[in-house]
Amino acid sequence: MEKVEQRYAPIYEALERFRRKRVVPFDVPGHKRGRGNPELVELLGEKCVGLDVNSMKPLDNLGHPISVIKQAERLTADCFGAENAFLMVNGTTSAVQAMIMSVCKEGEKIILPRNVHKSVINALVLNGAVPVYVNVKVNSKIGLTLGVSVEEIERVMNENPDAKAVFINNPTYYGICSDIKTITRLAHERGMKVLVDEAHGTHLYFNAELPMSAMEAGADLAAVSMHKSGGSLTQSSILLCGAGVDADYVRQIINLTQTTSASYLLLSSLDISRRNLALRGEESFAKVAKMASYARDEINEIGGYYAYGRELIDGDSVCDFDVTKLSVYTQGIGLTGIEVYDLLRDEYDIQIEFGDIGNILAYISIGDRIQEIERLVGALEDIKRLYGRQGAELYCGEFIQPEMVLSPRKAFYSTKEMLPIEETAGRICGEIVMCYPPGIPILTPGERITPEIIEYIQYSREKGCSLQGTKDPKCELLNVIVEE
Ligand SMILES: Cc1ncc(COP(=O)(O)O)c(C=O)c1O
Repeated sequence: MEKVEQRYAPIYEALERFRRKRVVPFDVPGHKRGRGNPELVELLGEKCVGLDVNSMKPLDNLGHPISVIKQAERLTADCFGAENAFLMVNGTTSAVQAMIMSVCKEGEKIILPRNVHKSVINALVLNGAVPVYVNVKVNSKIGLTLGVSVEEIERVMNENPDAKAVFINNPTYYGICSDIKTITRLAHERGMKVLVDEAHGTHLYFNAELPMSAMEAGADLAAVSMHKSGGSLTQSSILLCGAGVDADYVRQIINLTQTTSASYLLLSSLDISRRNLALRGEESFAKVAKMASYARDEINEIGGYYAYGRELIDGDSVCDFDVTKLSVYTQGIGLTGIEVYDLLRDEYDIQIEFGDIGNILAYISIGDRIQEIERLVGALEDIKRLYGRQGAELYCGEFIQPEMVLSPRKAFYSTKEMLPIEETAGRICGEIVMCYPPGIPILTPGERITPEIIEYIQYSREKGCSLQGTKDPKCELLNVIVEE
């Protein structure tokens, strides 16, 4: 049942009041409602630059909210079934970092799968917590990394009773969900906090047919990318807190790295999007699920491609599947995901979210219409006909879990040297190496480099993946640790 208060958008309303007053600005930003930068006005429009203002009493302050931002955060918490919520202006990256830094200190253990986003590893570099990785299974037929099995994570929790927290991706980029409810219960029984990376799960809060959300499962903290399926502006995000979390401490942690000049464009977009989701989320995401399901059926009709869905659910490593995700295995037509991704953009003017070695992901959202879905399906059909390679021998690109030799922080701050990548087998990596997107590191600081990993990196480059994270912009040299 929709609550009446969710119709309010306090930050947006305060901005509107402020705009109508035509206050003379002798404060930053220096463009002064755009007057000092006509090209910016030309680009973004008068209304947009006019709302790009600084914190002040009528508009509150994100670092220490007492009025309209506080009200907006309260409404956000209520809307997502959380005890507290924080509006974030430095992406879900900052929410992920705040979660980890709120529950772990230097040298303390955190249990997590290795296929996390780079923001997680970077948080470990920043605060010195030590990862204990849970093995994740791979569906080797389609080179797809699955979720966390309850049995496996329970074994790791039992072997590491001193761990402070458990960290889970839910859902993964590809739509795979773990049994977060059971994992949360097991962690809480052992006094461990549960942190959930819900970068790809904003919509889970708004439709009962979709997999369980972190807050519903009783998790302690969740990083939610409002700017992905929630419809807010790029870079805006939220951090949700459950009942057992000291939210005032979390605010202090956020303020360690948060800007003191939060953008009101981002904040008001979070406010409006939350209102929109609260009022219309249920039907919007039913529509998204229907479009994705239609696309899956049509793509599977083409043959060769495999657009997977709920049939992957096995009650273990795949506890549930997020049907709004349109993930497609492409190697059945003899092309890697990254090749299909490039062809869609270069030949068909279709930009999808990402392509990796085995799969592509087309992001379906509240902004899509069936015409666009038809265009995507038609292009995939064409690609198979014109570029498909029968019997092509493709590397399946399974996720390789490297051996961790040093903690990410220790490795990152060790003495390092740059070596050509082909000479690094056996050495310990001192930096992140990843394909972006999806931004899941192939190597993190502290991991042993193997010939198999080098081959994977070189294959990814050859096929057109954008390799990032290394000090060498070309990723031809790797920064490895000088072992004494
Ligand atoms: C799983 C996951 N976590 C965190 C992030 C970081 O989000 P942002 O780009 O908003 O900082 C991403 C970004 O794609 C992601 O995929």
